[in-house]
Amino acid sequence: MMESDKMKVTPVSEIVGAEVTDINLSDPITDDTKQALRRALLDHQVLVIRDQTLTPEQQVTFSAIWGELETPSNIEYTTEETHKVMILSNEIRPDGTAVGVVDGGDFWHSDSSHIEVPSAITILQAVKNPERGGDTEFCNMYAIYEALSEDMKQNIDGLYGIHHVSKVKNKRVTISPDRPGAKDFYENSAKANPEVIQPLVLTHPETGCKSLYCSPRFTIGIQGMSEEEADPILDALFAHITDRKRPFHYRHKYRDNDLVMWDNRCLCHRAVGGYGLPDIRRMHRTVIGGDRPLMLINRRRPKTRYSGL
Ligand code: OGA
Ligand code: MN
Repeated sequence: MMESDKMKVTPVSEIVGAEVTDINLSDPITDDTKQALRRALLDHQVLVIRDQTLTPEQQVTFSAIWGELETPSNIEYTTEETHKVMILSNEIRPDGTAVGVVDGGDFWHSDSSHIEVPSAITILQAVKNPERGGDTEFCNMYAIYEALSEDMKQNIDGLYGIHHVSKVKNKRVTISPDRPGAKDFYENSAKANPEVIQPLVLTHPETGCKSLYCSPRFTIGIQGMSEEEADPILDALFAHITDRKRPFHYRHKYRDNDLVMWDNRCLCHRAVGGYGLPDIRRMHRTVIGGDRPLMLINRRRPKTRYSGL
């Protein structure tokens, strides 16, 4: 347990996740508290900060201490108070339009890995939890990388995954029937967006540790490989993400007023679902942009004429 003033950080599992209590994020955050939260996020990858009731503007103020906020791509699904806060919700208005993004995050992924500069940190405030369902699962991608066989580590060293946002280009995912217009949306996005490459193994810019960086939701191939060559590798990697028998996972069941903050550079996550109308779930989401994922090449010592000296 670690404390700053009164704040308490308690791990929720050996491998990933910590609960944070005795802090009010609507108060100005001191440098000491910020450093303690940053340390906790780097150590535990996902923080569950209890008992927060931030207005959308307050959520933006808290989020902005971590870096520049991303602007949600669809203004339709943002709050009235500020367009920097996106709404995730299954609520449908009487006219048939959706209040927020309905099927957000339904397959394992790391946020926005399909664009060149993906998201660093995502923050979700649980504004309304359904009676049942609505959990979010996380898995620690540092731990998965470390647990790979030496053969697999060598196999993927230096390779780049091909990432794409459109579900119609990805045979490992399906389109939710609950989101109005989703099929058209993904067909248009298949044409409108280029494929992006990301290192399969990234070096976290703040911890310097290596993490596996690919996901069933966004990674559709490996650069320079045929589908026949890439599929067995990707399937083997994804099996670690989806296999909950291994101790890499944390499943978060939301309490009212939880604010959850996670690091996309070393985690995959997914929305578990399992709820439906008239039971409503509503989350307020802010995202801090990141850097281009880095791959540090393992340099070999060059052979020189003098190597025997
Ligand atoms: C997200 C996401 C999961 C959830 O907001 O990026 O994946 O449970 N959310 O809502
Ligand atoms: Mn997500």
